Amino acid sequence: MNRLNLIEQVNAHDQLATSDFVRLLPKTELHLHLEGSLEPELMFKLAARNNVVLPYATIEEVKAAYDFHNLQSFLDIYYQCADVLRTEQDFFDLTWAYLLECQRDGIVHVEPFFDPQTHTERGIDIGIVIKGITRALAQAEQELGISSGLILCFLRHLSEEQAIECLQQAKPYLEHFIGVGLDSSELGHPPGKFTRVFAQARELGLRAVAHAGEEGPADYIVDALDILKVDRIDHGVRCVEDEDLMTRLVADQITLTVCPLSNTRLKVFSHMSEHNILQLLDQDVAVMVNADDPAFFGGYLMQNFDALIEHLDMTRLQAVKLALNSITGSFMSAEQQQSHIEKLLHIAKA
Ligand code: ADE
Ligand code: ZN
Repeated sequence: MNRLNLIEQVNAHDQLATSDFVRLLPKTELHLHLEGSLEPELMFKLAARNNVVLPYATIEEVKAAYDFHNLQSFLDIYYQCADVLRTEQDFFDLTWAYLLECQRDGIVHVEPFFDPQTHTERGIDIGIVIKGITRALAQAEQELGISSGLILCFLRHLSEEQAIECLQQAKPYLEHFIGVGLDSSELGHPPGKFTRVFAQARELGLRAVAHAGEEGPADYIVDALDILKVDRIDHGVRCVEDEDLMTRLVADQITLTVCPLSNTRLKVFSHMSEHNILQLLDQDVAVMVNADDPAFFGGYLMQNFDALIEHLDMTRLQAVKLALNSITGSFMSAEQQQSHIEKLLHIAKA
């Protein structure tokens, strides 16, 4: 479809609020940490179920603690909260609660992250984690029509030897995940630290992604692409600091999984009105919208879109492009992507 037709068709939806229009669009979520979707209510429930003593007495106290000044200040609390996750049922409940939010937000496909080392370091078998998560993902495909592909993330503040051990532990469950990722403290832990484990993962036929250019410099994005050979970049908003990289991202249409509410809560941008996602989109960088850690940052996917509407005057055409990028940036088959694109264009036209 040519660009002008698309503009006319998208504008024909004037009677719908932009937010409702966006909710209707088929969208994927490609940057979501399951441990980051642990709502305080479920955290208290699991703490009681597993006899875990939390450092907070009330939900209000928890929410007051979620006042972050950078990535590390968030991660310290995030790892502490994950301690309530102990059994297969806990991982099922966590994942299922997230998938119900996906249904509400019009998400048709998810590629969520999980951090096995956060759990195995506490003595929990990786099989318990994977079985609980994948049972919920399978149920979502059956009951909610949401497809998925799970991504196993290595914690970059730990050593590469520990990441290699993690991949070894995960090998019996290879059929249950589609790729590996890299998260946790970015500064001081460049992608090159994980060269061998990413090569091993790719040899196993896994896809690869990495957080880069969230707090770290644009060089980390280049290294993730060149050394780790990732298929897409998580965050990547600091790409604007390197002109050659910008040219490459556009030419190769490399997907950046951007997380607006996360970036403002962790002070990557001082205010949503300063966020560069729509500038990147308008420069033809393949950005798309995600929630990252919704229970900690104030909202799920639609709340991220709503923030773009409120503070950046996002247009319907921009929303359609973001939704389109979320489909083409996924690891779905070409046929699956095509079917979602047809539905997306049909809604944009209606
Ligand atoms: N783990 C969970 N959320 C993260 C983020 N935004 N950056 C790095 N690691 C994370
Ligand atoms: Zn993230």
